[in-house]
Amino acid sequence: DAIELNGYEHYMLKEIFEQPTALSTCLGGRIDTVNNKIVLGGIANLTRELTRAKKFIITSCGTAWHAGLIGEYLIEQIARIPVEVEYASELRYRNPIIEDGTFVIAISQSGETADTLAAIEMCKERGAVVMGAVNVVGSTIARTTDCGVYLRVGPEIGVASTKAFTAQVAVLTMLAIELGRRKHVGPAQTAAYLKELQAVPGKIASVLNMAEHIKQIAIEYSAENNWLFMGRGLNYPVALEGALKLKEISYIHAEGLPAAEMKHGPIALISKGTPAVFVATRGSQYEKIIGNIEEVRARGGKTIVVATQGDDEIKRCADHVIYVPDTIEEMQPMVNIVPLQILAYYAAVHRGYDVDKPRNLAKSVTVE
Ligand code: G6P
Repeated sequence: DAIELNGYEHYMLKEIFEQPTALSTCLGGRIDTVNNKIVLGGIANLTRELTRAKKFIITSCGTAWHAGLIGEYLIEQIARIPVEVEYASELRYRNPIIEDGTFVIAISQSGETADTLAAIEMCKERGAVVMGAVNVVGSTIARTTDCGVYLRVGPEIGVASTKAFTAQVAVLTMLAIELGRRKHVGPAQTAAYLKELQAVPGKIASVLNMAEHIKQIAIEYSAENNWLFMGRGLNYPVALEGALKLKEISYIHAEGLPAAEMKHGPIALISKGTPAVFVATRGSQYEKIIGNIEEVRARGGKTIVVATQGDDEIKRCADHVIYVPDTIEEMQPMVNIVPLQILAYYAAVHRGYDVDKPRNLAKSVTVE
């Protein structure tokens, strides 16, 4: 173990820090700047089906389901094709509408999750074409799908998924860009997407340099037993994933939600000192989320805000700011999740838990 841990205290921390390299490997050879397009070899034989897809159904569990939600926002926003995201455990027992032109995407780190596998088999029986976004090469899901894109992040040992998540989002981002390019996105916009995508691993590396600052915040609030995580738009699934990380390994109750939904219930949970983590990087809903942050503050909540480097104004409503490098909205989830992974990690370590082997959880759920 000592050799494999490479000096890190836990696999989870090692895997968080591996993200710049892991993501570079995931993107490697797939961003073709010469021809201004994305090349995904594993789905090349289904180019025709993909180009004429009328609807996508994304299915997965846990962290991979959060990646799927980001995929929904991206494919709809960039490629303008309708997407549904379904928990595999629900999809398999529903009567999904699979028509000519329905394309299914199954996301799985392990490639062995029983519910995801069952959902794939059911969709295939009904005639859907199924693509996998899987990490483990040769796994059951990789073999069962019609085509696929491997995540290429190497083995993930920590039960709480980190580098697989960023790679799942990267694969869906690449897919959205390529679908968009084939439909209506012009060459200048495509080139801009590719350039920003290539810069993501470097931006994650600069977030990692903030780990000590994030650790101090985690320690300060690690005794609080209720946290909220909020974001809007693409940062809403990031908030869900941030909350999941915290609950998985620190056993703190955490809820992730779209920030505007707070007023329909969860705001009742805020009392003096409740930590509320906001993902509030600059983008189309920036002004709106500032309003949400102020509402929490007015009720005595403690606001921990992930914001864009250079945004000094945010300090007016934030108790703590975690700055991340600027990037376009479409690329923000991959960068913005990283501080939340680090926050969860240090909160759990400070509480004295074994983050690599959290109670009641398994790395891969191969039974229903
Ligand atoms: C388990 C793991 C999670 C993972 C989920 C889906 O619950 O603990 O980290 O997100 O399964 O796993 P998969 O291998 O299909 O991505």
